[in-house]
Amino acid sequence: MFDEVKEYYGKVLQSSGDLKTDACCTDTDMPDHIKQAMSKVHTEVASRYYGCGLVRPQQLEGMRILDLGSGSGRDCYILSQLVGEHGFVLGVDMTDEQLEVANKYIDYHTEVFGYKTPNIAFKKGYIEKLDELDLEDNSFDIIVSNCVINLSPDKESVLREACRVLKPGGELYFSDVYSDRRVPEHLVKDPVLYGECLSGALYWNDFNTLAKQCGFLDPRLVEDRPLIIDNPQIETLIGHINFYSATYRLFKLEGLESACEDYGQAVVYKGTIAHHEELFTLDKHHDIEKGRHFPVCGNTWRMLQETRFHEHFEFYGDMNKHFGIFSGCGTALPFDEGNSTGDNNGGGCC
Ligand SMILES: C[S@@+](CC[C@H](N)C(=O)[O-])C[C@H]1O[C@@H](n2cnc3c(N)ncnc32)[C@H](O)[C@@H]1O
Repeated sequence: MFDEVKEYYGKVLQSSGDLKTDACCTDTDMPDHIKQAMSKVHTEVASRYYGCGLVRPQQLEGMRILDLGSGSGRDCYILSQLVGEHGFVLGVDMTDEQLEVANKYIDYHTEVFGYKTPNIAFKKGYIEKLDELDLEDNSFDIIVSNCVINLSPDKESVLREACRVLKPGGELYFSDVYSDRRVPEHLVKDPVLYGECLSGALYWNDFNTLAKQCGFLDPRLVEDRPLIIDNPQIETLIGHINFYSATYRLFKLEGLESACEDYGQAVVYKGTIAHHEELFTLDKHHDIEKGRHFPVCGNTWRMLQETRFHEHFEFYGDMNKHFGIFSGCGTALPFDEGNSTGDNNGGGCC
């Protein structure tokens, strides 16, 4: 599949407008500071954007970030501004044409951002084999990826490698496409359906299982939207399979529990993260208002206490006394079915 994908993103597609579905187009309201950062990205880089979500976790100043499948580099150049001159962003991609556009504008952006030296680099390689790029264990604070992992024929290696190179307490924060059932093999082999980020998509519950097997013990869904397949031929081919674009955050924290357990703990958000002064959104089920005493399960507590978010919270309680399950963790479809802003139809506390 590597050659077909390289052909699709290197030669078949020339710009976002060539896509046949909205699978790879972001449909999210963007915060002003992100819009501002995006407006500084060169138009050629922006025109070859094929992402499906917004990969902007909070608190990025000074971070070392790796982008898996960085394409023409749009996300990397936005992140380059958000990490600041002392942070660093590395993009990895396997397609020459995409890398060529990304590399062409390093000096341009360094000047536009007002940096003395570039804080960004791009490497050619496979996201399944980060070891071949000499990326060391525990060397990145954050990994992002935007509409790429569905294209990998070996998703387990991608997740294992991501876990290896992340620092403890770091996170893989990524947008990708998921299906509501397993995609049959004959559709996986279709180069257009695969290239369009559909038929390589994991069934969401297989993704959850795989993420846990690869060391990400409590995957957290941040946001999702159903994909609109506005193409009659593709609609006929995929039949009743529903596809969703979803952003997950996977923390590398050893010993997270398999369910949300209640130890009577709570946190208070101090409102000290730039651009998120009133509200900290950990995931789809945790909008934590500034100043509010917010009860959390043991896993959520650790995601805030043992990560870069530590200094922005007050922590109440400990894990000495167990009060049972936190609340009804479910296994229903976790995505909203109607529209991207509809009420949550399923899922549990995480
Ligand atoms: C849908 S595009 C997304 C590109 C970029 N993230 C963006 O948002 O514009 C997928 C990109 O992933 C790259 N890619 C796919 N599979 C890959 C792999 N196994 N290793 C490295 N790059 C890969 C492709 O070359 C392509 O540039």
